[in-house]
Amino acid sequence: MSATANLLTARIEVGDEGAELPLLRPTIGPAMVDLRRLYQDTGCYAYDPALHEIGVCRSGITFVDADEGILLYRGYPIDALVESCSYLEICWLLLNGELPTAAQLAGFTHDITHHTMVNEQLHAIYRGFRRDAHPMAVMCGVVGALAAFYHDGLDIFDPRHRLIASHRLVAKMPTIAAMAYKYAQGQPFIYPRNDLGYAENFLHMLFAVPCEPYHPPAAAVRALDALLIVQADHEQNASTSAMRQVGSTRANPYACTAAAIAALWGPLHGGANEGVLQTLAEIGTIDRIPEVLRRAKDKNNPYRLSGFGHPVYKSYDPRAKLLRRRCYEVLEALGQRDDPLLELAMELERIALEDEYFIERKLYPNVDFYSGIIFRALGLPPAMFTPVFAVARTVGWVAHWNEMMTDPETRLSRPRQLYCGPTERDLVPVTERVAHPPLVG
Ligand code: CMC
Repeated sequence: MSATANLLTARIEVGDEGAELPLLRPTIGPAMVDLRRLYQDTGCYAYDPALHEIGVCRSGITFVDADEGILLYRGYPIDALVESCSYLEICWLLLNGELPTAAQLAGFTHDITHHTMVNEQLHAIYRGFRRDAHPMAVMCGVVGALAAFYHDGLDIFDPRHRLIASHRLVAKMPTIAAMAYKYAQGQPFIYPRNDLGYAENFLHMLFAVPCEPYHPPAAAVRALDALLIVQADHEQNASTSAMRQVGSTRANPYACTAAAIAALWGPLHGGANEGVLQTLAEIGTIDRIPEVLRRAKDKNNPYRLSGFGHPVYKSYDPRAKLLRRRCYEVLEALGQRDDPLLELAMELERIALEDEYFIERKLYPNVDFYSGIIFRALGLPPAMFTPVFAVARTVGWVAHWNEMMTDPETRLSRPRQLYCGPTERDLVPVTERVAHPPLVG
C-alpha cells in the first residue's frame, strides 16, 4: 500500500489487482484508508482481530495521541480539565461538545441531581443476589433491568427519550454502585441527597450509615472528582466499543450500558484496578517484587502485571501521570502517606520501569495503577474499584451512544472472519463416526 501526506487516495496492491481507495483525514492524527470498497475493488477483506489498526467510526469526543501521551476531551487537555472543572461540567462537555455556561451547568446539575433516586422496586432485585456476589455482577444485572422500569421511554429515535435515558444513566449509576456496596456490607441502602455535589453524594451513599452523621473529608471529595474526570472517556476502548457494538443493533441504552459494564469488568480493561491491589497484596514485601516480575515475564504463564501496559499508549499514560501526583496529595491529606502499600507500589513501579522486558515493550503504569491506590485510600474494598470506574465511564458510553445514534454512517456492526474450519464434506452416520477429542465438551 502507498499513501503520502497530501494524497486523497491510497493505492492498494493485492496480487495483480490494485485499487485506489479514499483517504480520510481526521482533524488531528494519521489519515485512514477507507476500506469500505476493499472487497468490491480487490476481492479481499481486511484482517485485524483486535481492531487495533482499524477505525470503526467518526468521533469528535476524545482524542488520544498514544506516542506523545496526550488526552483531549473535545479538544481540552485532560490536566487542564482536572485542574479547573467539576465532573458534571465534564459530563456536559462530553455529551454536548462545549463547556457549559453557568446557566447550563446549573440546569444540568439540577436535572442530574433530581434523577439520582431509583425505583423502590429495584431494591427487590438487589435482594435476589447473594451478599458475596461481585458488585460488577450486580451492576450488570441491575443496569440491564432499568429497561424494565422505563419501557415507556425507550424510543431510541426520539431525541427527548435519548436525552432522558442519558441523564438517568449518569444520575443513577452512583446510586446503583453504592447500593451494590451496601448490600455486600449488609448495611441499609443510603438514599441520595440533593444538597450534595455528585462526588460528595456518591461518597455519602457509599459510606454513610443511618445512625450517625457523615461528612467526607474535602480531600476525598476532590480526589474522587478527579478520578471520575480522568476515567470519564477514552475514545474507542473495549467497553465503549461494546456499547457501540450492541447499540448498533438498536438495543435500548440500558442494555447497551449493561454490555459495556460487562466489558469493563475484564481484568485487561477496567478490572485491572482491582488486579493492582491483588498484586500488591500478593507481593506483600518489597523483596518479593522480583518473583512477581519473573512470573509476569514468563511466556508460559498467562499472568500479567495489572496496571502496566496499554493497548494504545506506548509512552507514559497521561492519566497515570496526573493521578500519580493526586495520589500523593490525597494520601497526605488523609494521613496515609506512610501506608506501606504505597511504598510497595512505588518500588514496583521503579523496578518495572528499569527492567529490560518492560522497557523493550514500552510497558508503563496505566490509569488503573494509581486509581487502585487512590480508591483504597478512600476506603473502598478492591471489588468496588471497577464499579466506581463504571460510574465514571458511563457518561463516555452515553456520549458515544448518542453520537452513534445521530451518525448517518451507523450500520449494524457485523465483522467478517477468516474461516479456518473444514471445507464442505459428507455427513457420516452416527454408527460409523470416529471419536475425536471434543473442543468444548
Ligand atoms: N505484564 C507483563 N507483560 C505484558 C503486560 C503486563 N502488564 N502487558 C503487555 N505485556 C507484554 C505481552 O506479553 C507482549 O509480550 P510479547 O511481545 O513478548 O508477546 C507485549 O507486552 C505486548 O503485549 P500485547 O498484549 O500485544 O499488548 P496490548 O497492547 O494488546 O495489551 C494490555 C494491552 C492493557 C491488554 C496489556 O498491557 C495488559 O494485559 N496489561 C495488564 C492489564 C491492565 O493493566 N489493563 C488496564 C489497561 S488501561 C485501562 C483500561 O483500558 O481499562
